[in-house]
Amino acid sequence: MAVSKAVMLMPRGIQVCVVALALFTATPSYAADTSAVGVHGMVVSESEDAARAGVEILKQGGNAVDAAVATALAVGVTNPAACGIGGGGFMLIYIAKAHAFYALDYRETAPLQARPDMYMRNGKPDEDLARDGILGVAVPGEIAGIDAALRRFGTMKFQQIAAPAEKLAGDGYAASPHLAGEIAQLASKLKNDPGLSQVFLKPDGSAPKAGDMIVEKNLAATLKSLCDDPVRNFYHGQVASALVAFMKARGGLLSAADLTNYRPDWRDPIRRRYEGYEVYAMPPPSSGGVVLEMLGALDSGHLAGLGVNSPPYLARLIEVMRQGFIDRERYADPDFIGVDVQKLLSDTNIQQLRERALHPKEMRPPPAAHDHGTSNLLVVDKDGNVVALTTTINTVFGAKMSVPALGLILNDEMDDFAVAPGVPNAYHLEGERANEVRPGKRPLSSMTPIIVTKSGVPVMTTGGSGGPTIVSGVLQVALNILAFHLDAASAVAEPRIHEQAAPDIVIVEQAMPPATRSALEQMGYKLKVVPNLGAVGAITIAPANLRGAFDPRKGGGAIGY
Ligand code: GLY
Repeated sequence: MAVSKAVMLMPRGIQVCVVALALFTATPSYAADTSAVGVHGMVVSESEDAARAGVEILKQGGNAVDAAVATALAVGVTNPAACGIGGGGFMLIYIAKAHAFYALDYRETAPLQARPDMYMRNGKPDEDLARDGILGVAVPGEIAGIDAALRRFGTMKFQQIAAPAEKLAGDGYAASPHLAGEIAQLASKLKNDPGLSQVFLKPDGSAPKAGDMIVEKNLAATLKSLCDDPVRNFYHGQVASALVAFMKARGGLLSAADLTNYRPDWRDPIRRRYEGYEVYAMPPPSSGGVVLEMLGALDSGHLAGLGVNSPPYLARLIEVMRQGFIDRERYADPDFIGVDVQKLLSDTNIQQLRERALHPKEMRPPPAAHDHGTSNLLVVDKDGNVVALTTTINTVFGAKMSVPALGLILNDEMDDFAVAPGVPNAYHLEGERANEVRPGKRPLSSMTPIIVTKSGVPVMTTGGSGGPTIVSGVLQVALNILAFHLDAASAVAEPRIHEQAAPDIVIVEQAMPPATRSALEQMGYKLKVVPNLGAVGAITIAPANLRGAFDPRKGGGAIGY
């Protein structure tokens, strides 16, 4: 069977290669084909190299879980500004043989020495302390999560699935246009960190161009050193010692006890119907419930009649997003705060949300959009298993610090906590007490991979990156497929909007037609136009007909076979 592959055009001369079995509608605003068709399997990632790593594992006989963790490790190498072994994530898994869903939470936790007032200085919150620098670092969960997934559902050992990532790190890879842009933007901060500057800047301190090779030898060695017992070697062994010594020398809180105590959590996935579908999502501390609430409020909304991205549709979306984000403040780490998901997803709460959305009474003030880290990937294998995985080190290049000897970039996930009630984080999300810092607690996340079934069988999966725009992006791409019946590539490429209750601004992509924007302004919405809103990938699933698309906004790869 012919291979179908779609990748972003790269300046270094990589050819756009599309041997598709079917043609998709041309995307409205991006030149390169972002879609692929597969018969047996499909991997979609925000990195073409990483998607290739996942497919390599599928072809070696690995299942969707093997391929997903191989892709995650590889994307941690090739999208190092977004994710990596210094971070953590969520994995939503469908195992076809068992007809069952599983939700793996390997989000970072606050160090045991963390305190709710740790970012207060002279009685005032200093939110920058939670972002750039050592106090932003939470306990990494990535390796523990990968290990837990492999042990429960994988068919391969760690070294086999890590091999593509080790090779990319050791031999080098071509910087994507997105990565080159991020390095250029942050060059002045990267310069201050010996490890980051050595790997990601040229000897003269300038940023590499797209297509230039980046080599991460120390990261390759670290991955190799984990052998086939990554938890023991990362959380208890030499990696732990090096990490703890680094933290101690710089006044960080993360300790040996934090690493030995870290555990990933298998949680019950949450779900809600939308039209004739069941939508499965990650439970708290993910924002999966917020997407389900929004979909619930739009259920039976006859959206198709309004037209994709028509002003009346967008107005309805804006009001529902606004109410969904107000409810987001009720979500937090369920191990610390009672989050009544049943109640939040109940018909009564969704009816109330719909009423508030249809009859808005209040508008709320403040600021703007922000660039974000994080990376999403999706895998379907020949047996119908599905994995939707989102992984992060939080903002671009996390804490902007690395442990040079390990090639490990430190996350700044502490910024996803509420530094103090009402104080906005890097994404302008205002925190509530439910999400305050507590030792061992996981911060509330916007990452929300979903899998949708019809008559008990998966029909699509999607997930994204980009802080809170993940929630709105996943919602819109899901609706583009489920309500408007677009193919994966068109669903992903359609222009998007984002509304998160505060600030009282609707963020709109510049690809949204001017007439649509004017119509929204005439309705009284204040718009802020931005080039892009996050990145969302998707796969539609039918027997022997898998259609995957990565988001051209950030680049990546969709590879079917
Ligand atoms: N660090 C981004 C998120 O989890 O929402």
